[in-house]
Order: sequence, then C-alpha cells, then structure tokens
Amino acid sequence: MTMTRDLSLPADLFQDLPMAAPDVLLSLIRLYREDPRPGKIDLGVGVYRDGAGETPVFAAVKAAEARLLAEQRTKAYLGAEGDVDFLAAITPIIFGARSAAQDLFPIQTPGGMGALRLAAEVINVARSGAGIMVGAPSWPGHGSIFSAVGLQVTPYPCFDTTTQTLLFEPMLAALASARCGDVVLLQGGCHNPTGADLSLDQWRAVTQVIAERGLVPLIDLAYQGLGQGLEADAAGTRIVLEAVDTALVAYSCDKNFGLYRERTGALFLRARHQAETVRSNALKLARCNWSMPPDHGAAVVRIILQDEGLTALWRQELDGMRARLRKVREHLAQQLPVLGGLAEQNGIFALLPLSPEDVAAMRADHGVYMAGTGRINLAGLTDDNLSGFVTALRGCRPDLFA
Ligand SMILES: Cc1ncc(COP(=O)(O)O)c(C=O)c1O
Repeated sequence: MTMTRDLSLPADLFQDLPMAAPDVLLSLIRLYREDPRPGKIDLGVGVYRDGAGETPVFAAVKAAEARLLAEQRTKAYLGAEGDVDFLAAITPIIFGARSAAQDLFPIQTPGGMGALRLAAEVINVARSGAGIMVGAPSWPGHGSIFSAVGLQVTPYPCFDTTTQTLLFEPMLAALASARCGDVVLLQGGCHNPTGADLSLDQWRAVTQVIAERGLVPLIDLAYQGLGQGLEADAAGTRIVLEAVDTALVAYSCDKNFGLYRERTGALFLRARHQAETVRSNALKLARCNWSMPPDHGAAVVRIILQDEGLTALWRQELDGMRARLRKVREHLAQQLPVLGGLAEQNGIFALLPLSPEDVAAMRADHGVYMAGTGRINLAGLTDDNLSGFVTALRGCRPDLFA
C-alpha cells in the first residue's frame, strides 16, 4: 500500500504553533528570586505566609502524615470518585448539617483548579458553548479554564478598586439580564483578587435572582476559614444551595489545610432531575482527565477530620492564620484611610488602585513584587516589612495618603 502525504499540511506538527502567553505570576517568582536587594518584598503568588514569611506545613498535617505513613496498607486504585471517606468528612464542614448538602454528588479532584475544570467540562457536555458569567475582576484562572473548555465567558461588574467597594447593584442587574440556563460563577468567600465578599443579605438577593431567572450557580469556595471563620465563610454557599435544584460547588483544601502542592479538592454537583446522568458524565470526564485524583492530600484531610484532637489542632492553626490576616488588614487600613475598606474585606488578597506603571515602579524602585493588576497577597506582609511596603507605596502614590 502506498501512503500519500497531504501536502497542504506542514510536515512539522508544531510548525505553526504560536507561543503560549507566559504565566505572569510564575515569571514574577523568577524575577523576585533573581533580585539581589535584601529588602525586597514578595506580594505576588497567593500562598499564606506566617509572620516570619514562611509557609510551614500545618502541625495537624504533619501528625496526620505520620499516621498515614505508619498505617497505610495499600496504594491500590481508589476509583474516579476518589476517597469517599475524605468526601464524607469535608461535606459537613462545607455544607453544615442542614439540607444544603442534600442531593449533592461529590467527586474528589486535583485541587480547586481540577474541580473548576471538571465543572466546566460537565457544563460543556451538557450544553456545548454554554454561557458563563464571571465577575470583573476575578481570579484569572476562571476565565482561562472556562474559555479553554469552550464556554462563552461574559463578565459582570463586581468591584470598584478606587473606593474598595462592591458594585452590588450593577452586579445584580447584570445577573438579572442573564439568559435562563446561563451559569453564574460566584466566589464563596475571600474573593480573589478583591477580598470583597457579599453580605448575607446580598447572598439572599443574588439567590433570588438565580432562582427567578433559572440560572445555574457555580460556586468556587477555595479559602474557607481564612475570612471570618469556617461557618461564616460557607454561609453564602449554603444560602444558594437551599434554593436551587441545579448547582456546582468547586472546593479546595489546598489553602485551608496548607496542602497546595498536594492538589486536594472536590467538585460537588447537584442535578435533582438528572442526578444519575450527570454523575455518570462527571465520572467519565474525570476518568478522561486524570483517571483518579492524587491520594495523599485527601488522605491527610480525612485523617484530620476523623480525629477530634487533630481537627481541634487544625481549627486552631486556621484561626491563627485568619487572625494574622485580619491584623495585617487592620494595620494597612489604619495607614491608608482611603483604603479603609481593606479592614472589612476577607482572605489573603486585596486589589489596590494601582496602574501597571505604579506596579512597575513599586518593583523597580522599591523591590515590591505584586501582580500587574495591583493585587497583593497580604500574607506577604510581616512586622519586618510592613512599614517598608507603606513607605514604598507612599513614595509611588502619595495621593493615596492625602
Ligand atoms: C479563587 C480560586 N479558586 C481556585 C483556586 C485553585 O486552587 P487549587 O490550588 O486548589 O487548585 C485558586 C488558587 O489560587 C483560587 O484563588
């Protein structure tokens, strides 16, 4: 048999492939590492840091890992659903004991990112090219994942950087104009990048619009416990879930257990009228993507949550992180009355009203590294560098201190 080559195609598969845009935050890590200045400050990548600038392993995690190492009998496959005991252990932490958790089908995923990816793919197999509304601004990962999967992303306004306030009425109006069946991405708490969360009344108002318009909520809950507390940070998610038949919740344990590189998360799906169909599709998609999720992080979380003492230790460590973040917020808000809103916001991020030129000047002139949008990781600020940061900001933007 003679093989003929299609001459209309280039011989080299990759010949016409354009460069992918670099990951800006990862480039920032490299620039920071290469900066020789001793007083440099890293406010870029979103990991928690303690007062000494470290991201230590939780003591509860260390204890659970020791137990896992001693007691694990097999590493045989678990299945596409993941560790069902892990899923059962995190469910009440997220949804409480009440009806919010009813009819939810959980799947363990590689981190919150994996949960969002699986959510997007499930939505896309159900309705190819479905519309999804995403807050402007939001974590850039949202838009990237949804577009990569083929969903049509539409922004809704949610935050005014200059006044550090939620744009709640414009947000509600945008949601009210969505088409029935459109998906709405909401961040459950500790909004990335703004830190500005909805109040309970605002969650109720959003829920009403969702229910009335027949929208599908996709809630991203990636920082539970780092805002106001485990219960309070899940309250909005629970309000929505009390009211809808169809919902998706992407959850991450990577921040609140400090497990970042262990990729620990879950997707919770509710499809009251087609539960089995959606379940079968979600498991098939998980299988096509990663087959089965990584085990270690989930096993650690399971061990912690099945043990009263370790759970208490974990909660205590989480309380400490939250208290530190609150202190940094209060300190900054005191220094910068114009950004007083920082004290009421939650989580590790704040979005400062800085232009790309300001951000570049902060880096070049003062060795302060942050995302080009003006997002800072507040956990990067410590007793040692906080005044340096404020001085740099004053040098760069004196008007903010007027
Ligand atoms: C809002 C938000 N959602 C999801 C994620 C993904 O979390 P994970 O590291 O568990 O994949 C992040 C990570 O930064 C995030 O900020």
